[in-house]
Amino acid sequence: MTEFITVAKTDELKVGAPPIVVDIENTWVAIYNIDGEYFAIEDTCTHDGNPLAEGTVEGNIVTCPRHGAKFDIKTGKCLSIYADVRTYQVRVVGDEIQVGRRK
Ligand code: FES
Repeated sequence: MTEFITVAKTDELKVGAPPIVVDIENTWVAIYNIDGEYFAIEDTCTHDGNPLAEGTVEGNIVTCPRHGAKFDIKTGKCLSIYADVRTYQVRVVGDEIQVGRRK
């Protein structure tokens, strides 16, 4: 079963804002607001570990600032030759953004 933990209020993460990065059980997770929907991915580039939250976002694609790997924030898929990033479930309860913690 997935347990959800509150990571932010909805008004703290507006469309186009930089992602919020939180530590979930010793893993950095970046939460993005893409056109009003929230998505969470592990904040570690699968090439060489750079934080993806430092990258630029166009649509739902984030580009790692270090060597340019691109990832789909909605699916975690890498559009370059590297491994996909892990995704997390996200839900909104009232005005709270919650991320699923894997058990
Ligand atoms: S560390 Fe992200 S592309 Fe190399």
